[in-house]
Amino acid sequence: MRKTRVLTGITTTGTPHLGNYVGAIRPAVEASLDASVDAFYFLADYHALIKCDDPARIERSRLEIAATWLAAGLNPERVTFYRQSDIPQIPELTWLLTCVTAKGLMNRAHAYKASVDANIAQDEDPDAGITMGLYSYPILMAADILIFNAHKVPVGRDQIQHIEMARDVAARFNHLFGGSHEFFVLPEALIEEQVATLPGLDGRKMSKSYDNTIPLFEGGARLLKDSIARIVTDSRAPGEPKDPESNALATLYQAFADAEDTVAYRAALSAGLSWGEAKQRLFQKVDEQIAPLRERYETLIARPADIEDVLQAGAAKARAIAAPLLEELREAVGLRRFRAPVTTTRSNDSSEPAMPVFKQYRESDGRFSFKLVDGEGSLLLQGAQYPSPRDAGQRIVALKAGDAAFPADGESLGDGVDAEAVSVALQRFVED
Ligand code: TRP
Repeated sequence: MRKTRVLTGITTTGTPHLGNYVGAIRPAVEASLDASVDAFYFLADYHALIKCDDPARIERSRLEIAATWLAAGLNPERVTFYRQSDIPQIPELTWLLTCVTAKGLMNRAHAYKASVDANIAQDEDPDAGITMGLYSYPILMAADILIFNAHKVPVGRDQIQHIEMARDVAARFNHLFGGSHEFFVLPEALIEEQVATLPGLDGRKMSKSYDNTIPLFEGGARLLKDSIARIVTDSRAPGEPKDPESNALATLYQAFADAEDTVAYRAALSAGLSWGEAKQRLFQKVDEQIAPLRERYETLIARPADIEDVLQAGAAKARAIAAPLLEELREAVGLRRFRAPVTTTRSNDSSEPAMPVFKQYRESDGRFSFKLVDGEGSLLLQGAQYPSPRDAGQRIVALKAGDAAFPADGESLGDGVDAEAVSVALQRFVED
């Protein structure tokens, strides 16, 4: 069965709060355990640069967010977890897409239009303070998704338009350069309907922009408790019944409790539980789930080099997928090596370069070897000499599986060929 590739990005600005945990992190970690899903989660740190020009905050936030996701149970062995800025193919693809994206499409982006409208309302120049980064934001996001050919993209409602734009741009590129070949899967937005939106301290949706958040790990149990104590309630006295439908405490409680506990908590409120006691019980319920994660978080954040290793390993996995696709795309738009005869006419069917092949043969001294040659027959990798065809065959199988190091002892690269080119060729076998 072919797995569904699910991909989502986390913009690395700010410090994660309880609303992020319940609304995004926890469901994403749960979804990543589904065996039919091939999950890609990444830190959208290029996107963060659009909103923030303070290097220290950029650095801090990506570390905190990486540690948060790992502490929340994301298993980097199972999912591909990486930083956007470690994948050079993403900005490269961004440019290829930029060149086929209609300016008019970008003019319609909600985030850009909102900034223009705000400027006009304040009698400013319509483009005041608007960078090209903000303007082109949806193209970078399209590249994030398309470089891995993700099928499903879990996002909030505010991002649906961006996914539609990614589809538009992908379809246009496919049409222009693919002929009958589809380079890109058209991605679909995945909107989680049942995921809870948490109320913040003032009862409105918990959000950094309302300054009403309860931190997830920052400040420890102490700050969690103090923040919960600051949730706005009404003036009903202890003993007076409180409507569980219309208060933030019950909604927050429900996000961390099972059905039975939730019913009991609501009943206690209706029966006149004091606000102070209600907050104490809420704190205990939340902390029960968060405390073990917080402990892992503190261990992780104290060892940034370990997080770096995890992210580097994730980036290597991701690049192994991105690099061959980008090669194909460069080829398709005409950014080709000058090795093959140059054609002046547009050809749509040559967009997929011919498959490389392994040729096994017997040396004159009776030993066995192989060559890996590209679609045009040029030597990429010369194999070592083996006593039996079986030994040579086993080496070929390992190389085709895509995880063997090369050149091994006795192997050598073809003239003018670099390891990257061999790696790209080998990747073709992995995909096939
Ligand atoms: N723009 C998204 C947000 O603010 C983050 C993001 C960047 C993203 N690249 C993405 C989400 C690719 C999904 C897919 O929430």
